[in-house]
Amino acid sequence: MAADLAVGIHDLSFATTEFVLPHTTLAAHNGTDIGKYHRGIGLRSMSVPAADEDIVTMGAAAAAPIVARHGSEAIRTVVLATESSVDQSKSAGIYVHSLLGLPAATRVVELKQACYGATAALQFATGLVHRDPSQRVLVIASDVSKYELDSPGEPTQGAAAAAMLVSADPALLRIEEPSGLFTADIMDFWRPNYLPTALVDGEESIAAYLQAVEGAWKDYTEQGGRALGEFRAFCYHQPFPKMAYKAHRHLLRNGGQDSDESRVVHDIGDTTAYNNVVGNSYTAAMYLGLASLLENADDLTGQPIGMFSYGSGSVAEFFAGTVVPGYRAHLRTAAHQKAVARRRPVDYAGYRDLHELSLPEDGSDHTVATQTSGPYRLAALSGHKRIYQPR
Ligand code: COA
Repeated sequence: MAADLAVGIHDLSFATTEFVLPHTTLAAHNGTDIGKYHRGIGLRSMSVPAADEDIVTMGAAAAAPIVARHGSEAIRTVVLATESSVDQSKSAGIYVHSLLGLPAATRVVELKQACYGATAALQFATGLVHRDPSQRVLVIASDVSKYELDSPGEPTQGAAAAAMLVSADPALLRIEEPSGLFTADIMDFWRPNYLPTALVDGEESIAAYLQAVEGAWKDYTEQGGRALGEFRAFCYHQPFPKMAYKAHRHLLRNGGQDSDESRVVHDIGDTTAYNNVVGNSYTAAMYLGLASLLENADDLTGQPIGMFSYGSGSVAEFFAGTVVPGYRAHLRTAAHQKAVARRRPVDYAGYRDLHELSLPEDGSDHTVATQTSGPYRLAALSGHKRIYQPR
């Protein structure tokens, strides 16, 4: 393994849903002061999947432009990270592999550890590329964040998929060693197999997240990582954008640094543009934050970015990436802005119907209503099998 080989994110693309629920609509329904949503948790709207959208259709939509740009020849591994899986056995990545026409000589696997899974996938991918730099790994993070109606978590739902091509000599971000790691056995957020919606202890999850920031940073420092002041920007997992602000203030204070508002905004302000309007996309959320940062910040060439990934339960990792010269030519800013702008607003009743929609569980033949105008859809269920189609 060549330690000095640059490995990292060569391309980054995301997709989201057909529908969007503005928080003004939710606030009008439940009587909440809109300031709580807009300023208190930092959300303006959230993506809502159509009846015929799920983690597979979003994952394929996110990855298709990457395959179109780079071809599929060098991709020998697909890792799909999710915590809203559609099958207990089969990897959702196999449906994506099929929809994208990837070569049969590919290994495909699904990874789970709440919102952290995509970072594990990214690290596994860099290891595979270090072992054989001619290979590329397609990493897909795809999730539908769903809490019970009228619960405190309801305003922090959302859905999106981020796809990344991990390669040698990457065009966007070189992933650095070391990583700072932290695991704690804690029940801050979880979803038993029999529940369609997640359970969360909001306060506990915020406290657990902050504890993990401390733990992962401590380990990062002990492993010989960069000093806090070296980073140009920080990209945090965003279950809701205000969480990134809480986390960064916590990190700065713990590191004995100035944590006034202007410093925090300078460090993380450019990471929230997509999460503000998409909502929580679990595994994808930090990578939507990275897309937002790369697309919105002034020139980041050669700058180190601190990445903090958190998955309830809990596992966290702090690692660094360095932005590659010429990265701007490879960004997908227009496509990402379109993915957000093309969503159709739903009214409260429409959102509620989609939220409560369930697919048959008896193996009967079922045609799924055509709602999405995206490139892939869940067309039908038959004999307990999901049938996906390009549109
Ligand atoms: N104007 C401006 N801000 C307002 C406001 C108003 N009218 N009303 C409330 N706020 C602020 C509160 O002060 C609070 O800010 P703070 O956290 O900086 O103190 C924020 O809005 C949220 O208010 P709070 O009363 O704490 O909301 P809540 O009890 O409904 O819970 C969450 C908020 C985020 C905890 C809840 O939505 C949740 O559980 N979400 C899921 C959490 C999650 O995803 N966890 C996983 C972690 S990885």
